[in-house]
Order: sequence, then C-alpha cells, then structure tokens
Amino acid sequence: MPSKNKRRRVEERSTIHPRNKYSENPPDFGALATLYPSFKPYVFYSSRDGRPRIDWTDYNATRELTRVLLLHDHGLNWWIPDGQLCPTVPNRSNYIHWIEDLLSSDIIPDCRADGDVVKGFDIGTGTNCIYPLLGASLLGWRFVGSDITDVALEWAERNVRSNPHISELIEIRKVQNDNKTFEEKDIQTEDGGECGGTVDLANMGVADIRPSPLSSLELHSRLQNYHGTPILLGVVKDGEKFDFCMCNPPFFETMEDAGLNPKTACGGTSEEMVCPGGEQAFITRIIEDSVQLKQSFRWYTSMIGRKSNLKILISKLREVGVTVVKTTEFVQGQTCRWGLAWSFVPPYKKIVSSHVTEKNNLSFMLEGLQRQYSAFHVLQSVESFFCSSGASCKIDSSSFKIDIIASKDQCEAILKSQTENVSSITTYKLGISDGPDQLDFQSTEVHLSISVFQQIPGTLLVRGVLLQRESPNKGAFVLVFRKLEDVLKSKFCKTKTIAELSTSGQKR
Ligand SMILES: C[S@@+](CC[C@H](N)C(=O)[O-])C[C@H]1O[C@@H](n2cnc3c(N)ncnc32)[C@H](O)[C@@H]1O
Repeated sequence: MPSKNKRRRVEERSTIHPRNKYSENPPDFGALATLYPSFKPYVFYSSRDGRPRIDWTDYNATRELTRVLLLHDHGLNWWIPDGQLCPTVPNRSNYIHWIEDLLSSDIIPDCRADGDVVKGFDIGTGTNCIYPLLGASLLGWRFVGSDITDVALEWAERNVRSNPHISELIEIRKVQNDNKTFEEKDIQTEDGGECGGTVDLANMGVADIRPSPLSSLELHSRLQNYHGTPILLGVVKDGEKFDFCMCNPPFFETMEDAGLNPKTACGGTSEEMVCPGGEQAFITRIIEDSVQLKQSFRWYTSMIGRKSNLKILISKLREVGVTVVKTTEFVQGQTCRWGLAWSFVPPYKKIVSSHVTEKNNLSFMLEGLQRQYSAFHVLQSVESFFCSSGASCKIDSSSFKIDIIASKDQCEAILKSQTENVSSITTYKLGISDGPDQLDFQSTEVHLSISVFQQIPGTLLVRGVLLQRESPNKGAFVLVFRKLEDVLKSKFCKTKTIAELSTSGQKR
C-alpha cells in the first residue's frame, strides 16, 4: 500500500488531456445510475461523504460503467465477454488525444497517408476494440485493428457491427501466423521483398530515407529477439500507408507479474496481458518492424507500462536512426503509463524569418499552465535551460528575472541539446529557406535577460531582451529564445490537472 505522501504526490500529478471529454466533467455515477437501470445496482453512496461510488474490485461494475460511458458520452454500443480486458474510457481517450496532438503538430510535415481522412493501425485491438471505436466516433478516423486471438477478432467485429454509423471506418484484421518463422520472412524482405517500402516523398519536399541493409551483428540481435506472431511486418499490406499506429501491448512476462491490481477488477486474460519478454520484447519488435516499414507510417506509437523500459526503448530508437522521438506520461489515479512515439519522416526545420532575426526583444505566452506550477518554477527552468550548457546565469527571484551571458559554443550546445518531449532532433535554423546552419556569431558573447510575468491565473508572459542593443548576434538570440519557448511550452502546458478524476479514476 503506498504511503500517504506517495499517494499525494501521484494525485498531484494526475493529469488528463484538456480535450478529454472527462477533463471538466468526471463521470457522474449518480446521474448515470438514474439514466441506466442496469448500472444502478453497482452504485452505492459513501457513508463518508455521501458521494456516489462503485466497487472498483467488481469486474461487472467496471464493465457496466464502461458500457454506459461509451453509450452515454460517445453514442457507442459495446460489450465484451466475461474476463476479457475491460478498458477505462477516460484513460484510453487520453492516448487518442495525444495522437491527435502529434498529428496536428508541426514536428513533421502534415502529409496525410491516405487522402483527407486520418488512418490509424491499432496493434492488438482486443475484444473491446476501444481505440478504433473512440478514434472513429470522436474524430472520424479510419482504422485497421489487428489481433491474434479468435475471441478478440470475433468480439471486435461484433463491436464494430453494433455501431453502423462508424462501421465503414473500421477494418478488423487477423494476424496470420503462416507457420513461416518471422525471421525467415524478414530475411526475404532484406533480399528485396515488398515490406521495406517507403512513402514516395518526392512531392513532400523532404528527403527519402530508405532502410539500410542490416549488419550481421544487428541481424543476430534481431533473430534473438524475434519470437511469436508478426506484429506489423507481414500484417500491413504492400503499399498501405497509415498516419499512425498505436498499441496497448501485453505488458507482462507472466500472469504473476501482472499482479492484478487488487484495487481494481479490469479483467484481462493471459493472451491479453502476457507475451514472452513482456512489453520490452513486444515493442522492440515494433521498432524493428518500423525500421523496415519506415515512412509507411508517419508516427509509430506505443503505450509503455514501466519507466525503465521507456529508457531502454528510447536508446533502441536512437540506435536505429529515427528522426524524432516524443514521450508523454499518462497518469490516472495511482496508475502511471508512458506514451512513446517515433518517426522516420524528416522533421521540419524551425525557420526563423529574417525580420524576426532583427529583433532585440521577443516574448511568448505560456497558457494553460498546470496548476502545480508557478512563475517561480518557470524561472527555475529558464535557469537550468541556460546553465546546463555552462552559460552564466544571475537569477533575481524578487523581480522574476535572469541575466545570462552565453558564448557561441554554449549557444550551439543549447540548440543541439535534446530535451524530453521536445522533438529531439528538431533543427533550429536561420533564414527563410537556405540560411546558414552555422550560427552567424560575430562577437564573443550574447548578453540577454529573461523575465517571467504573471498575466492572469494560469497564463505567464516570458520576455527576452538582448542587452547588447547593436549586437550582431541577434540571430543567435532569436534561435536560443525560440528553443526556450519550445522547451517551456512542452514542459508546462501539456495537460491540465484534475484532482477529481483520481478519486473516480478508472485504472487498467
Ligand atoms: C493489452 S491487450 C490490449 C487490448 C485493447 N487494445 C485495450 O487497450 O484494451 C493486448 C492485445 O494484443 C493482442 N496481441 C498479442 N500479440 C499480438 C500480435 N502479434 N498482433 C496483434 N495483436 C496481438 C492480444 O490478443 C490482446 O488482445
């Protein structure tokens, strides 16, 4: 049982995506019980505060809650057989909205995989088929949902057919295990098979990146990892293109590891929860498939259950040469999961136009600040942003201002540094299209000051001033300030805290 302090810390971090339907209005069990008689028997009123609650350890209660939420809030008809993994609607919606953010960001060019409609691939859609149902009903996305078990395929189909208004958008695809080992198939691909296809980027104005042949060492390590049924390679059809894939993988190596949370009853059979090597092996395989499929997907994503695996998988991604890595944290109640996304599409360069590079004075707003952060936290982050490169910083906490002196090397180190949740390989560049990649640095140092002002609650203004008025280093000032903007926005404006959801929070 977690200590009170730990519990409080987790609750403080409870986050929900601001566009999540439940962000402002957590499910009201009392109102749902009145509207849906089948849900009523599961609702009781707490003797402590009189609030309506359900018993999270009762599988039938959690399944009925999911059913009524999907019906009431999403207009979806839905059911799963006893014991199958029961999804939690607010939690699964967070993943959908995070993908929506990735797709609408300008990290990589917005070039739809297949016409106007966004097309996703849900790896292991399960009996519940939750991601295609939510993605199609909330955002009109098309989906292929794959799975390996008969029960998952049958019930996912049923759940799609029960919703004729979106059924055209969703295809359920059986993963064929055609008795060839995965290694054999994969080696054929290396020899010129169809699976390594890349999107023709000629019309996108970005360079094509084709899969490079694997060294014998790489191949050896891949053969060791490859067990089980195909995941993407061999399931994605020749020439198919997707905007993203997503996956809630079998997290555990054994059912004992799954250590089913005694505080919740979300079901989950061994086929759903377990795979040899656990999530690390499963996602490693997705990464290796992505090396072959490259730009057939704009974004590859997966949910991750263990932070230690997140670090290992990020290293793996760097090894295989992806162009972008993004991560996020999904926290709800006392359950924490991570989202990992990567791409092989060359990222946009941040272009700073020449009229901006003339400015001595720049500012940006930090809006939708998470409740636990104040102007002081932002000021501290500004300090560590500059100090980490060795720049000299003098902080004046009373006026929320920092004076900074940075050399050319220090500015370059700042621009090259990789920051969690900021496109790790974004290039910051001067000029409209073909400006210099090198910093045009004409005096030894840049002197600047950064101030943080409270505007209204939840909104801060960050202002940067180049203190050498006639400095020829304006370009460096602009680029560094733009990077600071990206880092602070990514850190402080991601999601919004709602404490309420941690009490009624559903867990996987
Ligand atoms: C944890 S469940 C996720 C179910 C659902 N997406 C959710 O979020 O509740 C994992 C699913 O992956 C499926 N699975 C396992 N190996 C697979 C593979 N190679 N390809 C596709 N699905 C697979 C399992 O059958 C199971 O339905």
